[in-house]
Amino acid sequence: MSEIIRAKNSGFCFGVRIAIEKTEDTIENNKNNNTRNIYTCGPLIHNKGVTDELAQKGVKIIESPEEAAFGDLLIIRSHGEGEEFYGRANELGLEIIDATCPFVMKIQKLVKQAKADGYNIVVVGDKYHPEVKGINGWCGFSSIIINSEEEAKSIEADNLFIVAQTTIKFELLENIIEILKKSGKRIHIENTICHATSIRQESCMQTAKKCDAMIIVGGKDSSNTRKLYEISKKYCKSTYLIEKIQELPLKDLKKCNKIGIAAGASTPERIIKEVIASMSEFITENQEDNLMHALMEEIEK
Ligand code: F3S
Repeated sequence: MSEIIRAKNSGFCFGVRIAIEKTEDTIENNKNNNTRNIYTCGPLIHNKGVTDELAQKGVKIIESPEEAAFGDLLIIRSHGEGEEFYGRANELGLEIIDATCPFVMKIQKLVKQAKADGYNIVVVGDKYHPEVKGINGWCGFSSIIINSEEEAKSIEADNLFIVAQTTIKFELLENIIEILKKSGKRIHIENTICHATSIRQESCMQTAKKCDAMIIVGGKDSSNTRKLYEISKKYCKSTYLIEKIQELPLKDLKKCNKIGIAAGASTPERIIKEVIASMSEFITENQEDNLMHALMEEIEK
């Protein structure tokens, strides 16, 4: 008999859930007002299904606050924005709905204070990622952004205050700290890595180890979903990455006894449940077919 196992900690993380809830509340509160537009700067989350649905409800994506008009509503994503962004939006007369993840907001406050205390800020992370750009914007864009051990070796400044992008690997932060310690610099470290990512990856790995096939549900342009796919593929060869139920490889799953499901941080609960329901239905039908087939063979004997 086939079994479906859902990896623990799949789907929306705490920060994404808050961002979605705040956006839905904003839509609800604004539904009788057709003079104000609702915007996000960049997509709210990396899931096209969700952003398309939000667009239908009137949430449009813009690239900068200047594209909005006086009085419009501007939702700040869970990645956060730099301090000057708030000033610009205020000057433009926009109403801000701040959906910055509380963990990211904590980093922003830390670097602002550290800068005021005279530290040189080091952010370990990807300089092109919106979260890192936002953090840098809370210390006057003065931070030294590094993403490798080599870059850590080339830091000349002393009196360093080190924070990390929430989604980086702990090993990278650990290695960089080791290098900076050896260099004899004065350093203050704040481990700001968010555990939601590592816990999700660990659960996906544990599930993949005991399954014949794995379905990873999430946006194909979502980096954390792709990471889950790579981890799963290592332990379970028959791993499939799907964005919607229509992509379920049902035929390939026919012979599998244990099918695992894991989902990225931007995958809505509704889609995960739809995938599970569709697979359960398929398994039941398939088992009935097999049973009928076995019975017919018995009768024909
Ligand atoms: Fe926040 Fe961690 Fe999610 S930083 S947005 S809870 S991955």
